Amino acid sequence: MKSIHTVVRDQFSQHADYYAQSIAHATGDTLDVILEFADPKGTERTLDIATGTGFTAFTFAPKVAHVVATDLTPEMVAKAAELAQEQAIENIAFSVAAAESLPFTTASLDLVTCRLAPHHFQDVRAFLSEVHRVLRKGGLFCMADSVSPESEKLIAWQNRVETLRDNSHVYGRPPSQWNAMIEDAGFSIEKTAHVRNAQMSFLWWVRPAQNPPEVVQEIRDAFAQLSPDEAREYYTVKPAGDDFYFSWPMYAVKARRAS
Ligand SMILES: C[S@@+](CC[C@H](N)C(=O)[O-])C[C@H]1O[C@@H](n2cnc3c(N)ncnc32)[C@H](O)[C@@H]1O
Repeated sequence: MKSIHTVVRDQFSQHADYYAQSIAHATGDTLDVILEFADPKGTERTLDIATGTGFTAFTFAPKVAHVVATDLTPEMVAKAAELAQEQAIENIAFSVAAAESLPFTTASLDLVTCRLAPHHFQDVRAFLSEVHRVLRKGGLFCMADSVSPESEKLIAWQNRVETLRDNSHVYGRPPSQWNAMIEDAGFSIEKTAHVRNAQMSFLWWVRPAQNPPEVVQEIRDAFAQLSPDEAREYYTVKPAGDDFYFSWPMYAVKARRAS
């Protein structure tokens, strides 16, 4: 069986251009809230983990001293480096690295960011332990990711739907599980926020060019099986002819390594 890292690389190596053009990744409350939580002063040595095509790293670069942007998938790192060059961003470096094993010296960084990625990670506890290790005492970790509602039924529903669409999805956990794991890793949580990214078109999100029609239909049927309250409250579902628009719940955390 393929390791999760191999599945992730197989999946994301084909989609660097798709991500680079994705409004859902380029914008949204998760980017604003991470920036607000980090409140950079201009001196921070910063690491952006699972940078994808660099949206979070590029947002922070003008506001901190230096950013290292890392990702498991070489094609995503190459695309991010190309975009950084086009945008003449100079205080940025790139590295291919797994979130679970960071090639940085202990206590060498002031700020670590990670956005819209941990639900793909093979080992979230190892990731959090590595973030804690590379941050200096008092350093900040600011993350945002899609989460499941606090409901056993919807945790199972959401993870089934996400995995049907993209087999590199590992697990979207509810906020209570994030809080416990972040505190177990030795951080103090200072702020949290429930946010949303852009509403997504189902027909765009489901990637019909990649997923066969029967899989697209299975996912559509799964949405239809939600109760009207679940669809509205948790997934902001809005019909639009043959299509519909929806969003995943997102959770952002500001956590500090103890001094
Ligand atoms: C949705 S994209 C990233 C979005 C990006 N952080 C942003 O703000 O636009 C998810 C990224 O996670 C990366 N990834 C998945 N598992 C990883 C892991 N274990 N370590 C590092 N990167 C990983 C993938 O290669 C992919 O580029």
